[in-house]
Amino acid sequence: MTAEILNGREIAKDYRADLERQVSELKEKGVTPNLTVVIVGNDGASLSYVKSKNKAAENIGMESGIVHLEEDATEEEVLKTVESLNQDKNVHGILVQVPLPKQVDENKVLDAITPEKDVDGFNPVNIGKLYTGQETFVPCTPLGIMELLKHTGSLEGKDVAVIGRSHIVGQPVAKLLTDQNATVTLMHSRTKDMVSKIKDFDVVVSAVGKPGLLTGADIKEGAIVIDVGNTVVDGKLVGDVDYESASEKASYITPVPGGVGPLTITMVLNNTLLAAKRQNN
Ligand code: GUN
Repeated sequence: MTAEILNGREIAKDYRADLERQVSELKEKGVTPNLTVVIVGNDGASLSYVKSKNKAAENIGMESGIVHLEEDATEEEVLKTVESLNQDKNVHGILVQVPLPKQVDENKVLDAITPEKDVDGFNPVNIGKLYTGQETFVPCTPLGIMELLKHTGSLEGKDVAVIGRSHIVGQPVAKLLTDQNATVTLMHSRTKDMVSKIKDFDVVVSAVGKPGLLTGADIKEGAIVIDVGNTVVDGKLVGDVDYESASEKASYITPVPGGVGPLTITMVLNNTLLAAKRQNN
């Protein structure tokens, strides 16, 4: 079987066109959605990620801002920044890029973002609401993965392996897949004989950050492969899955780059628009 490519750039483009239309409707009512990103330090990958989020926001007519603090910023400075964005009526979505430098307690900072503006869905109040089925902000990468999977048909009854148990991807996507009536196995670094088990699954979502973790030989014929890995190797972005061999066996596969990444950014915009609408209701 030769896999159909889940082209994240194309799917994101259509989704963003719809968001742009909704942004312009909201602007006619006098509200311009604003996404403000806080970044601490000068990590190259984080900086470029933050810039692409802001550019994407501006491309669909939103306002965007970056608050860039020094690598040696104190926890108090970061918390003060978040507090002033919480109070700013013109800011609808706040996103603090993680990881944060050692001297800043990440949990304290995520706790400080007001849940109404927490477009990442990382605040414990929003995480709790997600798991109890209440109105919330769903984390962006899991939401993007679910959008890609909509293009592959129903997930009902499918056996899904999610590899990686992070709060940002693995755990929330397992919850969203379960809501779609899939049967989910959450695998991680301590899973026994993990790679040899992958052949049993209809869908594989790999969010580890380990290039070459899976190849075509490891997956079931006709499986759906969602590669969330994004590791820079020799200046190139690569996923967890060997694309060439896997695309000969899968029914659908996401490339890296150009698969999940564009959808993650799209969902930041989606959640910012949602935040602006909720705050002006
Ligand atoms: N760092 C890596 N992924 C993310 C994300 O989705 N949001 C934030 N805020 N930081 C990240």
